[in-house]
Amino acid sequence: MRFSINQVMLKTKMIKLYGNTMEQVAEDMVERIRFIRNKDNTLKNDIFTELNLWALESVGVVALGGRLNCFDPNLPDDSPVKKLIKTIHGVLAAAEKLDFQPSLWKYFSTSAYKKGIKLYEEHMKLNEYFIDKASAELKSTGEKDYKDKSVLEKVLDIDRKIALATAYDMLFGGVDTAGSTALALLYLLATNEEKQEKLREEVLSKREKQPYMRACIKESLRLFPVFAGNFRKTTKEHDILGYRIPKDVRYC
Ligand code: HEM
Repeated sequence: MRFSINQVMLKTKMIKLYGNTMEQVAEDMVERIRFIRNKDNTLKNDIFTELNLWALESVGVVALGGRLNCFDPNLPDDSPVKKLIKTIHGVLAAAEKLDFQPSLWKYFSTSAYKKGIKLYEEHMKLNEYFIDKASAELKSTGEKDYKDKSVLEKVLDIDRKIALATAYDMLFGGVDTAGSTALALLYLLATNEEKQEKLREEVLSKREKQPYMRACIKESLRLFPVFAGNFRKTTKEHDILGYRIPKDVRYC
């Protein structure tokens, strides 16, 4: 599966395809903040909740093939989008509980485990709903050249199940991470006004390359890393520039 997905995902040209829509998402987010903020410029909601909405709307464009409209303040509670927002939040909370906190779920089916599985299933069903909807819309617009196809179109051409699993991974891996990184970036910019001004100038220049923005994101990730480390175990012996790493060694 990784091999077939890499042919689609690891192409930098694909990024350009999403530029305008991502910019629109960012503008809609700013509009939403303007709309919901209090008179003293504070927010009623927690800013992280808002940034997670922005991240979900952005990742949804790639993973589910279009705008979800998460920013709509009048979304009914039983709408698929509202359910998706709630479910993703629940899945991440359940994953933290089950994967990182002491629990007996590996030995017997605890209530937290049952709740977690129910949320995973609900998330899968919602992904199916959005992907099938996008797929029907794509079919009605007719055949396109391969180069003009989106990530979802290309992955759907491979297999619907792969499209579902890829969307699941993107939504699971991309929302909280992007939201947390944006939160760290905004905090650091708010506390470093001179750097904020420098970045503002670069953004307003609308130059295609934005090296200062890139540096600010990297610096935010350095100061507030989303991941403290990535744990791996070697499955065979490796020789890296003369350093011998035996099989079955855990490293970070
Ligand atoms: C600052 C933001 C992000 C950080 C820090 C981050 C970090 C990571 C890390 C450390 C891994 C594990 C890599 C490994 O297993 O070797 C990972 C995997 C992954 N991330 Fe991200 N990520 C971010 C944003 C995103 C976004 C926006 C998406 C989706 C649109 C995404 C989708 C994924 C997926 C699908 C995997 C699994 C890849 C695989 O197993 O092949 N991530 N990410």
